Amino acid sequence: PKVAVLMGGPSAEREVSLVSGRECAEALRVAGYHVIPLDAGTDLPARLLEAAPDVIFNALHGRWGEDGCVQGLLEWMRIPYTHSGVLASALAMDKERAKAAYVAAGLPVVPSMLAARDEVRRRHVMPPPYVVKPYNEGSSVGVYLVTDGTNGPPQLDAQMPATVMVEAFVPGRELTVAVLGDRALCVTDILTDGWYDYDAKYRPGGSRHVCPAELPPEITAACLDYALRAHRALGCRGLSRTDFRWDEPRGLAGLVLLETNTQPGMTPTSLAPEQALAQGIDFPALCRWLVEDASC
Ligand code: DAL
Ligand code: MG
Repeated sequence: PKVAVLMGGPSAEREVSLVSGRECAEALRVAGYHVIPLDAGTDLPARLLEAAPDVIFNALHGRWGEDGCVQGLLEWMRIPYTHSGVLASALAMDKERAKAAYVAAGLPVVPSMLAARDEVRRRHVMPPPYVVKPYNEGSSVGVYLVTDGTNGPPQLDAQMPATVMVEAFVPGRELTVAVLGDRALCVTDILTDGWYDYDAKYRPGGSRHVCPAELPPEITAACLDYALRAHRALGCRGLSRTDFRWDEPRGLAGLVLLETNTQPGMTPTSLAPEQALAQGIDFPALCRWLVEDASC
């Protein structure tokens, strides 16, 4: 079959997506598919008509590609595509509404609120430490950490959306679990010198991943269980990755869910492919699995 790999696009995560897309395109070639790489611009509908793929491999991240928009276009065009559908994508990308779904499913989340960008610039809208993020972007683009009150409120730049999410900062370890189909794969412990920011995520050696993580069995079990329940609560399909923080001294009570990524990174430093590999699923096999799982 002919597989078009969608990558790039106009989101803040464009560069990450180009890397994910190239990796997936190469892996699909290795797996024996006829691959058409497509940088997703506003002419995408015309290019899809021209290329006439049998399946879309969605390697987009962030707005338009991970939030239900491109999924809606593909439904409309009746082209089967990988990963989550319209509703799950839209829900997961809206961090505040996703939280409501997790809470309804009985999953532990971090207290947060939506606030106007200008108000966040003017005063501490919650007691520090807290984190300010766009409610709808990934890869830590536009994430501000406010550690203490002495420096005044964060001077968010003009790129930030008019409404932002303000979330209590939870100290502790950064854990993540990918779900493939109906199976939570593995827990990864992400070790960084400082903040797991854009640089730590994508610079080779920017962070160290321990996979499978060395954790008390009850924490491992809880992470796997919560990730699968989060995937289901949002109605995800194919592959997702749920991120956690664990405040170790507090035991199980210190484990909270941060967010679910419906288009997890597929770069050489990304976490979901690493977890698949730990389960014996190499990168071409993972990409093939996703293509076979595609629907519309
Ligand atoms: N948003 C990036 C791509 C990730 O979650 O892996
Ligand atoms: Mg994310």
